[in-house]
Formats: sequence, structure tokens, C-alpha cells
Amino acid sequence: MRRTTFGSTIVAICFLFGMTDWVRAQKVNYDESKVPKYTLPDPLVLQNGDKVTDARTWHKMRRPEILKLFQEHVYGRSPGPHPDMTFEVVSKSSKTLGGKATRKEVDVFFAGKKAGKKMTILIYIPNHARKPVPAFLGLNFGGNHAVHADPEITLSTSWMRNNPQRGYVNNRATEKSRGANASRWAVDKILERGYALATIYYGDIDPDYDDGFQNGVHPLFYKKGQTRPAPDEWGSIAAWAWGLSRALDYLETDRDVDHKHVAVMGHSRLGKTALWAGASDPRFAIVISNNSGCGGAALSRRRFGETVQRINTSFPHWFCGNFKKYNDNEDALPVDQHMLIALMAPRPVYVASAVEDRWADPRGEFLSALHADPVYRLLGTDGLGVKAMPKVNEPVMTTIGYHIRAGRHDVTDFDWQCYLDFADKHFGRKR
Ligand code: GCU
Repeated sequence: MRRTTFGSTIVAICFLFGMTDWVRAQKVNYDESKVPKYTLPDPLVLQNGDKVTDARTWHKMRRPEILKLFQEHVYGRSPGPHPDMTFEVVSKSSKTLGGKATRKEVDVFFAGKKAGKKMTILIYIPNHARKPVPAFLGLNFGGNHAVHADPEITLSTSWMRNNPQRGYVNNRATEKSRGANASRWAVDKILERGYALATIYYGDIDPDYDDGFQNGVHPLFYKKGQTRPAPDEWGSIAAWAWGLSRALDYLETDRDVDHKHVAVMGHSRLGKTALWAGASDPRFAIVISNNSGCGGAALSRRRFGETVQRINTSFPHWFCGNFKKYNDNEDALPVDQHMLIALMAPRPVYVASAVEDRWADPRGEFLSALHADPVYRLLGTDGLGVKAMPKVNEPVMTTIGYHIRAGRHDVTDFDWQCYLDFADKHFGRKR
């Protein structure tokens, strides 16, 4: 009798949640003692087995090797800019936010105006600061109009994930969504500290769902007869990162912004994206990963929280086709995510975790920063100034920055405070 009740409960659970989801949910590991033993590939050993003992060998040989491995096996290769790309400043107001800032909106036509496909960059520039100013650049989740309640930001007309409570209905943004993500963008603080903020809705570059790579930027670069990226070509994360590089192409032409001092920042899937942007485009002077987790800063081999199999199943479009070979097969990866962090070296990079964000594996994020340290030291920097995870809310601000803050998966004012202090320090700015 008891057995039957148990059996029918299981059947009911499977029915409610879907068999595969239920089985998978059981397998998520949050137990440190169940992290398997693993050996990380050494960032300072060439594929031919030789040790890297000087900066020149790192830059000339090992770094290109690692970059290529990430392109082939994880994110996919991206094209350069399209030769017909154009920029158009579509709005400019020098007295916004109570006179504190100048707001610009710039359309980037990825393959020229005729092709039509574009993204819109929203830029706030502090009026009080001497130009050109350093900047933070980041993709946003809810449309540019969601980063601040400023009623004059153009309401995005791009495809959006539905969320009626926040004002997203019929896959479009409504007026109600203005400022919906403002708590994640410390716009006023960034401006006060003398930085510009440039941001773009990530769905302008590639809408975030699996449509076989038809509705984003990918088709602009298909060869004759090609209908989707090859297994070693760009997925959506690489496309979003490519969009960040195109924004930097624009910033290089904007006299108000010091394009040599641009920090690229992103949260969660957009934190993975910021890391890949910083790795593949050395023009980014600082790279900041906020709660980026699996496929971002977290070590894949730990299989703690989200795993490679899990991410490739839920989000088959994020990584390149080849990455699926590593589902439940992490030890076969020729890289791990500490080598992604090392690709930024010697540029300052900041990895941020949150205590309650176990899905993203905070310890795995810290360990990537730690295992990138030998590369940073080889290149003559102070690397990561600690050997063990720091206490909660106690940021480490060496060339590799790290903090774990209290709370959940999110971007908070505390995070921004740290990023601004980190940028001040590494850009040599006094307060
Ligand atoms: C999911 C996903 C994560 C991702 C996150 C986000 O939780 O599993 O990998 O970082 O979404 O982007 O919010």
C-alpha cells in the first residue's frame, strides 16, 4: 500500500515537471564534497609540452593557442566588422537627468543601412567631467529604456521575453517597462564619478532564443548556401560579444569618450559575454564579470551547480556546436575557464560572485581567478592578491579583482561601488 502511494507520487511529480527536467534537477550538485577530482590544463604549458617562462612566449605563442581553443571548442569563431557598417547619431540632448548628463542614442547598422539590421547604443556622458571621459560599456536585458526611468530614452521595439508584471507583453516592451532594470545600473553614481555609460539591448544583436540563427546578425555573414554557423563558428554569446566590439568601434569615433579606457561589464549570461568580448578584443581596457557562472568565470570541471550539459540543453544556441561534445565530458575540454580569465592578462579583470548564487558556483568563479594568477605574475603584475576566498563583502582589488557579496544573483549598488573603485585604481584616477 505504502509503496503504491510512493510510486504514484513519483509518477505525479514526473507528470507535473516533465520526466527529463525532474531527473536532471536531481543531479544538480551543491555539495562541495561531491565535486569530482579534476586536473586543470596548465595555461603556462604549450600544446607541444614546452613551458612558457617569458612574456614574449605567452603573447606570441600560448595566448593565440588558448584563444583558438576557446574559438573552436567553446564560443565559436566570429567575423570582423562588416565592411559596410555605418553609425548614425539619432538623438542627442545635452541637458538630461537634471542637467547632469548628455544623452546620445546611436544606431549601428551592422552591414550598412540597406541591410537594415541594427543595434542602438544609449550613451550618458557626465557634463561636469573633462572630456574625453572613461566609460563602462555593457549589454542590457530589458531594452535601453529599462536601465533608467528617463522618459526620453527611445522605447525599444525589438523582440523581448514576455514578463507582464514588468511591462513586457506580446514579446514587446511597453511604457510600463521604463526603468524596469534601473536597480542594476547605477547610472547616477557612474556619472557622478566621471564615467560615461554606454549600453545596448542584447536582443538587438541576436534575440535570445534558439531559432537556428536566422534572426540575429549571423545571416549577415553566411557564405553562399550557408544556413547556420558551422560547429566551430559563433553562437549567440559570441555574437553578443561581437556586438560589444562594434560598439567600441563606434566609441573610437566619439570625441566625448576615451576609447582607450573602456571597461566592459556584464551580468550572468551577459557576464559570460563580457568575458568573451574582453578575451577576443584586447581593446577593452578592463573586463568585469558579474555572477557569470557556467561558461563564464566558473570552472567547468567542478560540475557544481549548472553544468556544461545543463547549459547546452537549456540554451543550445549560446555556445558553438562543438561545445556539446563536452556534455558530461568536461575533462576532455582542452581548456577550462581560468584560461579565459588569463586571456585578459595583463589587463585588469574583475570576477564577482554572490553568496546565494550557487547555480553559478561562486567557488568555481574564484578558482578561475586564482588559477589565472600565474599568467598575470609572469606578465609582471600583482595578479590576484589572495590565495583563499576572501570574506563576504571584502573586495580584492589587485590586477585580478574579486569579491563575493551577500545576497542573490543580481547586480547591486555594492557591485558598482567596487567596479568604480577598481576602474579608478587601474585607470589611475584620484577621487
Ligand atoms: C540561467 C542560466 C545561467 C545564466 C542565467 C542568466 O540561470 O542557467 O547560465 O547565467 O540564466 O543569464 O540570468
